[in-house]
Amino acid sequence: MVVVIGWINIGLIVIMGSIFPVKKTYLKKLKEEGKEKSKNWGKLYQFSRKAHPILGLVILTLGFYHGYQAFSLTVWHTGTLLLYTVFMMAVIALTGPRIKPFKKHWRTVHRNLGIVVYFLGVLHVFWRNAL
Ligand code: HEM
Ligand code: HEM
Repeated sequence: MVVVIGWINIGLIVIMGSIFPVKKTYLKKLKEEGKEKSKNWGKLYQFSRKAHPILGLVILTLGFYHGYQAFSLTVWHTGTLLLYTVFMMAVIALTGPRIKPFKKHWRTVHRNLGIVVYFLGVLHVFWRNAL
């Protein structure tokens, strides 16, 4: 069960990252082909935007459960690093738009942490005890 939940979470993290190519494709189509032809991509992007924070909460909940069951939430481990990086992403997304000097930059930080999360995900699956 612990391993299955871990894999479900990896799947959800991959889906989370897909918001970026969806957004890029939509904006490109909108610019090049106009509103009508980019309509379906627009709908997909709006759907992704709505689903994204909900999925984020699911990832955190499953991640805490999985980590607690598999080992511990208070150790220096590839799993805890992965989980707390996702947690930081949530904090940045929730506070960033509300803090003035951070308004313009939170997305970049959030996006780059997404790359870190992918990297830590690979590390956790293939070299779990590397740290
Ligand atoms: C865990 C909780 C998370 C929350 C609450 C959250 C929240 C958000 C929000 C509000 C946006 C802006 C969406 C928009 O209006 O376009 C966003 C964008 C994004 N998120 Fe997350 N996110 C979370 C986790 C993640 C994770 C785990 C990943 C990937 C591994 C990720 C990747 C991205 C990307 C690539 C964008 C697009 C940034 C851009 O517009 O340039 N997020 N997130
Ligand atoms: C979002 C966070 C996390 C994700 C996506 C995740 C993902 C996974 C995956 C996919 C596996 C199975 C790998 C395989 O088949 O070999 C796994 C196993 C494991 N994870 Fe995580 N994990 C997360 C958080 C944590 C945390 C916080 C810890 C605590 C230290 C942890 C500790 C472990 C351990 C000990 C195993 C081995 C379990 C076993 O073989 O019985 N993980 N994780």
